[in-house]
Order: sequence, then C-alpha cells, then structure tokens
Amino acid sequence: MSTTPDYQIILNQIQREFAELPLSGKVASYIPELAGVPFDKFGMHLHTMAGEDFCFGDSKDRFSIQSISKVFSLSLAMKVVGEDLWSRVDVEPSGDPFNSLSQLENEAGIPRNPFINAGALVVADVLVSSFSNPKAALLTFLHEITGDPTITYDETVAASEKAHGYRNYALVNYMKSFGNIENEVEEVLDLYFHQCSLEMSCKELAQAFIIYANQGALLNSEREFLTGQQVKRINALMQTCGFYDEAGEFSFEVGLPGKSGVGGGIVAVHPKKYAVAVWSPPLNPKGNSALGMAALERLTTLTGFSIF
Ligand code: DON
Repeated sequence: MSTTPDYQIILNQIQREFAELPLSGKVASYIPELAGVPFDKFGMHLHTMAGEDFCFGDSKDRFSIQSISKVFSLSLAMKVVGEDLWSRVDVEPSGDPFNSLSQLENEAGIPRNPFINAGALVVADVLVSSFSNPKAALLTFLHEITGDPTITYDETVAASEKAHGYRNYALVNYMKSFGNIENEVEEVLDLYFHQCSLEMSCKELAQAFIIYANQGALLNSEREFLTGQQVKRINALMQTCGFYDEAGEFSFEVGLPGKSGVGGGIVAVHPKKYAVAVWSPPLNPKGNSALGMAALERLTTLTGFSIF
C-alpha cells in the first residue's frame, strides 16, 4: 500500500543536500539579458492534487520561463485547431539540440515535435493565424489557469532575444520556404520571443501545471481547460521531447514528464499526484538546469515513485 510522502521533509532534505555541493553549469548567456541572473538562485515548489503546497528557497521569485512557455502555447494551439496541428508538426523526439536546423531539410520543413524551436515556431504561427492579438490570447490563457492577472512578458528580455535571434529567424524563414509558416516571419517571431520572456515563479508554474496532472482541469473547478486526451498527448510529448537531446536522460533519472527552459526552470508533472517546479540558473551542456535535474531526481528517488 502506498502512503502519501511528507513532501516538505523531502524538499527540506533536497535543499540541504545541495546547499553543501558546489554548483556546476553555466548561466545562459546567448540572450544577454539572461546572463545577469544570479547563478545561485535555487527554489522549488510542489503543488499536490489535494491543493497542498510545499516549497523552499527562491520559489516565489519570478524568472524567465523561456521554453517552458512552449507547453502553454501548444495547449492553446491544440484547443483552437485540435488534431489538425499534427499535419504541420510531428510528435517524435529529435535527439538534437533545441535550436537545430538540420532535420528540417530532409523532413520538408515539418519539425519533429512542438518543443524544439522549429516546432514551437509552427505552433506560434498557428496562434498568429487564430487570434487577432495572439500575445493577449496567450496571456489570457495563463491568467485563467493561474488566477493571477499580473503574469506578463518581460519586454527587455523579448527585445534582447530578438536582437540575437539569428537561428530562430533562420528556422522560420526556412520553414516558410517549405510552406509551413502562414504568416509574416516578424509576426511569428514577435509572439515566440514574447512567450519565451514570460516571467513566473516556481509557485506559479507548479500551480499552472496542475492542469496537466488533473486531466485538464483546475483543482476544485468544473472548468476543463483541456480534454483528457489533450493532456495525455501533452504529457507524452513532455516525456519524450521536453528536454531535447537530453529527454532520455531526464526520463531515466527522474521518470516524470517535464519541460525545461534556458532561464534555469524545469516543471514536471506526476499525473494524478502533483506538479512541481524547480529553478536554478546554471545549465548543463545540453541547456537544461543542472541542479534542477538533480533535485528532481532526488524527489522521485526520495518519494519512491515516478510514473514508471
Ligand atoms: O529560442 C530560444 O533560444 C529561447 N528563447 C528558448 C530556448 C529554451 O528555453 C530552450 N530550452 N531549454
């Protein structure tokens, strides 16, 4: 028989264990605005299906969620275009870095999955086609699932990314040459750079991601944001593609669906149990938070359960 673990005792232990170890990894610097984030920030927040909250450290500080936003934009695109999305973006792991261009040539401009940049840019294109103000639509979706209308874009980070977004420009232009981008390149990138600049805390992320643990609904609410089938698909994609060329390693070590961002955040979901977010800015060579991955490995080891 499985009993509910004492999450706060486990989180305290994780905080203690890592406080004694030197930090490894490097804070993302290819977006200059991210390079200045203090490297020793460390926070974690776990939100359960019973509505309980457990946390430590800098869990209430907002940070740049970067590619974690791809889960929100994908959710919104699935709501508006449904299964038609899959004719424009595939659902296979890429085994390549997040910003790779190489597979697109052989695969006729169809990205491997919605979490690599190419796939997220097609998703952004779908949102630009679907909404007269896609940036506002994405914020509305987030405000509804978090109940917090103060969550917003960081214009400085969005501008910093635009000024250095050569690869993302290349990806959109290349996919447009195959006919897989409907809108103007600038419009698609404007949404993409803004979604990456969204600022949220571990607490807010864990609370927002509870819909992926709870079949698409908020706790204690009749309102279903996503269907059970959509949540199944999003969690499957997080499991197989959420960490790019480190998706296998994350599954192997942590055993939960999750999504990382180069701001140092990682969110993971234990379906029907909890959503958890962790933040530590230094990244490993694959671009995922080094300490974040290690902390989540400790979480599933110390609780004694993962999805496997
Ligand atoms: O496209 C980019 O370069 C970033 N703004 C987002 C990248 C990101 O977070 C990749 N994930 N770990």
